[in-house]
Amino acid sequence: MLSGGDYIIDLRSDTLTKPTKEMRKAMFEAEVGDDGREDNLGRGEDPTVNRLEDIAAEVSGKKAALFCNSGAMANLIALLTHCTRGDNVLLGETSHINKSEKAPFMDSFGGLIPRFFVTDPFGTPEINSIKQFIGDDEIKLLCLENTNNFMGGTCMSKEQTKAICHVAHEHAIPVHLDGARIFNASVYYDIPVKKLVEPVDSLMLSLSKGLGAPVGALLCGEKEFISRARKVRKLLGGSMRQSGVVAASGISAIQQEADRLKDDHDHAYRLANMIMNNDKIDIRIDSVQTNMIVVDVSPSGQSAETFESGLLKRGLKVKSISDRHVRMTTYREITRDNMIRAANIINSYCDSL
Ligand SMILES: Cc1ncc(COP(=O)(O)O)c(C=O)c1O
Repeated sequence: MLSGGDYIIDLRSDTLTKPTKEMRKAMFEAEVGDDGREDNLGRGEDPTVNRLEDIAAEVSGKKAALFCNSGAMANLIALLTHCTRGDNVLLGETSHINKSEKAPFMDSFGGLIPRFFVTDPFGTPEINSIKQFIGDDEIKLLCLENTNNFMGGTCMSKEQTKAICHVAHEHAIPVHLDGARIFNASVYYDIPVKKLVEPVDSLMLSLSKGLGAPVGALLCGEKEFISRARKVRKLLGGSMRQSGVVAASGISAIQQEADRLKDDHDHAYRLANMIMNNDKIDIRIDSVQTNMIVVDVSPSGQSAETFESGLLKRGLKVKSISDRHVRMTTYREITRDNMIRAANIINSYCDSL
């Protein structure tokens, strides 16, 4: 709380979303077993985890799914299941896997080699760049991200995904999708997740961003792939026991929160519109597609970090994501009124510079 009684508005990330009452009730009542023990079909013994995995497989249109404790863990398992040490992986330089997760490419860890395709301003790979790499190089895996976090929640369409996957598949290269916010892309295009991700071989979807579950992500793919991924999860120490307690919140998140994401998109778009004419900042309004706004603060003459602390003193938390960019993200607890106040804070701060 600030002096004068005003609350701080926190737009750092949708990972701040809190579990709903329904989630907490489902967690309390969850039927559980030992998910670390497998039956003869290769499924764990926790019925709620199995139910969540079946729901995720159904939603993603894949044959199977594996419950993991985080998105980073699910991506790591995917890369280590698709590849072996020394393999080249083609991905975006600003992708979350490369920029934030890193472990697959650390020599002391995954030992994979990152190669970077060229992207358009929305973070979508240029198809010619993919063709060039795949023609000239020993690429073993292509990784995509939808929505694209560091580009501001931008979406890749079904057609774009299909065209890119087609090039990879022509050379028998599998495609993994970091779909931490794939439900946001699904809301943006108003098509089911399974249609958007149909051409990819594996995907990670996160429960703990705008969907609001406290923990968890699912890795989805073919049965044989998921069965190998389960072994990698165990090697990484990622097997859990009575994890039905958290899986129950994930079921509630998928079934009850996915449609609500459109409110977050609406709030982000409103805020962007209220600040876009300010000449101390630059916003690409066509990039504000889901629940994020990336603001270039360089016209203000301030670094992103200084801008971030200037806003914080006035009651608004944002996140600097480069020397000149700050990101703001909406989520369930952020209201329409919060958007008006956030816009006033940003505009008055800019006026003071
Ligand atoms: C695009 C993307 N992928 C993966 C992750 C990692 O998810 P987690 O925080 O659950 O490890 C994040 C987290 O913000 C993300 O934005």
